[in-house]
Amino acid sequence: MTTSSLATLVSAASSASFPSALPAPAPIVKWAGGKGRLLSQLLPLLPPGAELMRHVEPFLGGAAMFFARRPERALLCDVNPSLIGTYEAVRDDVETVIGHLERLARAHGDASYYAVRERYNRARRVSQAERAAMFIYLNKTCFNGLHRVNRRGEFNVPLGRYKNPRIINEAALRSAHAQLQGAELRCAGFDELLASARPGDFIYFDPPYEPVSATASFTSYAQDGFGREQQLQLRDVFRALDRRGCRLMLSNSDVAFIRDLYADYRIDKVSAARAINSNASRRGPVLEVVVRNYVS
Ligand SMILES: C[S@@+](CC[C@H](N)C(=O)[O-])C[C@H]1O[C@@H](n2cnc3c(N)ncnc32)[C@H](O)[C@@H]1O
Repeated sequence: MTTSSLATLVSAASSASFPSALPAPAPIVKWAGGKGRLLSQLLPLLPPGAELMRHVEPFLGGAAMFFARRPERALLCDVNPSLIGTYEAVRDDVETVIGHLERLARAHGDASYYAVRERYNRARRVSQAERAAMFIYLNKTCFNGLHRVNRRGEFNVPLGRYKNPRIINEAALRSAHAQLQGAELRCAGFDELLASARPGDFIYFDPPYEPVSATASFTSYAQDGFGREQQLQLRDVFRALDRRGCRLMLSNSDVAFIRDLYADYRIDKVSAARAINSNASRRGPVLEVVVRNYVS
């Protein structure tokens, strides 16, 4: 798909007017399982009239779908408090975040990476804007853009092997800031949607995926793993929200367990290339399923 045809899809799928001086909003962090490369296949599967619906994303991550759609109203959730805190700081105080990031980018090097990681993990009196800048800095410079924490919740990813990482992109941060103005952000598990989703919401679920093999594990996004028990709970939440009258779209890996869970719904397949995998031989194209409770 060409850039201009993706832009046509995006403008058909979005409703918000956006400051024309700014670039189109796009993810501000690299995120495992990010949906950027799949947008050209996912956007045509949105429900009719999606631009009038509230956009709800319970597994926000890098927020590729939210930024591509540019909805006027959104409820954005993730169980990762540092990620949600970063979006809150970018929404509410982007210029201070940019100021801190400029300082971090100027000082970047091996020693300063580990000093920032230490401060990020240990310092208690840090403003939300500085913490967000450290989060973005670590994300852009760490190994493969991974987010991994130890049992104490400390970020423990080593420095990446980039020669000249792009640590700061002011225009992208200001675009994200503008787009986040209509968004409510919450650090919450997906089951919290049962209390807050409304009939007529469009909800896009992009959970940690069911592994395609015993060794492929995409399940360590946060301190708590996301195993079959959580996939079953998610299916139950999906069913409850279906009965409530929400429009639902869900991505997951194309495996029998997931296809069986959602056998009552419409299932399409899309082809994805995994960008983040420590094993380069596993970065080839794989099939994913898109489950929907509507016809587009
Ligand atoms: C596949 S990623 C989402 C990627 C995102 N769609 C993007 O474009 O970058 C899954 C996200 O789910 C979050 N997550 C894991 N367990 C969760 C839970 N129980 N409730 C809500 N979010 C959860 C992780 O922190 C991670 O950000």
